[in-house]
Amino acid sequence: MDCRKLVVVGQGYVGLPLAMRAVEVGFDVVGIDLDESRVKRLASGESFVEDIPAQRLDSALDTRRYRPTTDYADAAGFDVCLITVPTPLRDGAPDLSHIEQAGRALGPYVRPGCTVILESTTYPGTTEELLRRLLETASGLQSPGDFHLGYSPERIDPGNPRWRLENTPKVVSGVDEAALRQVDGFYRQIVERTVPVDSTRVAELTKLIENTFRQVNIALINELAVLSHELDIDIWQAIEAAATKPFGFMSFRPGPGVGGHCLPIDPCYLSWQVKRTLGRQFRFVELANDINHEMPEHVVHRVMAGLNQRGRAVNGSRLLLLGLAYKKNTGDMRDSPAIDITRRLLALGAEVRAVEPYAEPHHVPDGVVIVDLTERELRAADAVVVVTDHDDFDYDLVAHTARYVFDARNRCAADNVERL
Ligand SMILES: NC(=O)c1ccc[n+]([C@@H]2O[C@H](COP(=O)([O-])OP(=O)(O)OC[C@H]3O[C@@H](n4cnc5c(N)ncnc54)[C@H](O)[C@@H]3O)[C@@H](O)[C@H]2O)c1
Repeated sequence: MDCRKLVVVGQGYVGLPLAMRAVEVGFDVVGIDLDESRVKRLASGESFVEDIPAQRLDSALDTRRYRPTTDYADAAGFDVCLITVPTPLRDGAPDLSHIEQAGRALGPYVRPGCTVILESTTYPGTTEELLRRLLETASGLQSPGDFHLGYSPERIDPGNPRWRLENTPKVVSGVDEAALRQVDGFYRQIVERTVPVDSTRVAELTKLIENTFRQVNIALINELAVLSHELDIDIWQAIEAAATKPFGFMSFRPGPGVGGHCLPIDPCYLSWQVKRTLGRQFRFVELANDINHEMPEHVVHRVMAGLNQRGRAVNGSRLLLLGLAYKKNTGDMRDSPAIDITRRLLALGAEVRAVEPYAEPHHVPDGVVIVDLTERELRAADAVVVVTDHDDFDYDLVAHTARYVFDARNRCAADNVERL
């Protein structure tokens, strides 16, 4: 496939790694983002995505084949364009305004023979119904026919050193055979293995199955963790034992709730569409959402009970939270359960301090003081709560220094440690 100019719309957690990889395999890449400060930071070599070290960004900028910009006019003459803009919820319903905006802005630069691929997570039908209409209207061209249109879900797992963009199989699709060939041909240059499917709807559903599967299984194990505590059975040991079964079981671990841009949101795209199209409820998703949403409250109750046993109330206690991000080894606090836990503890009158080495200061919840993980902080806390299990925390130090630890991640072991 003879293609050199790639446009990546959205330079966030998904778009930036794609742009970097494409530069590295020889593309001329324009990274469009409406966030001016983000673009300025990228242009000066400052990366805000943990998986993209500044050095890698610098190397891309040095090639002069990576240009971050806010201006859609820089898309002119593109061969392939990837759209990686956010797909959040608004009042519980899909908010596709970013895709709409991107489609309208990109449309005038669509020309015969080019390929546009949506990567944002969304409900089945978005590519063929919404994006196609926007691009056709703005360009005066048609797909299939004049330009190629496809969908390929992103599977990036921030902070995962084993499975990276290039070695994770990529599901690819197109609105017709010709589009599929173009989409597949493009990604074969970016990743080691592609998985072609018959339609964009199948590809869109694939992503939602993956995330709904995780959301539901995490909810199952979370509910079991709550029940096992009441039954006085060690859920963590039971999970480890179950995981020795070499077939038919996949291990999920309980935690303080789910967060980030995927699990709390993506399954709702599917349940919303099922409701709208079929008038039916997607019951597993609703139940999983309920259970996972209740986990921060459960953590707070357990901390409250633990302090009570030690003759203390939450009100007036000094609490040290370890980790605020929604998952380990990242600073991403979007929808993190730590935010809910913090809000509840503050409302109960606690003094809340937190250790979060990856946090950007403006994302830290109001009323929380960020501190370093020191013996002094650990000794001064009435309770230490392990919320996010970043690998670089010294869990031995925590377990052996703190008076009382509530560990929602099973990282500490000592007599003063209570686990979720
Ligand atoms: N982050 C992940 O781990 C992950 C994994 C798989 C799928 N996804 C999906 O990928 C999509 C993007 O997620 P993300 O985490 O990269 O989001 P993000 O917020 O990190 O990045 C999106 C970027 O798009 C920019 N943007 C918004 N509207 C724009 C427009 N009209 N034109 C140009 N730029 C625009 C924003 O300024 C932002 O910088 C979402 O649909 C998400 O569900 C994310």
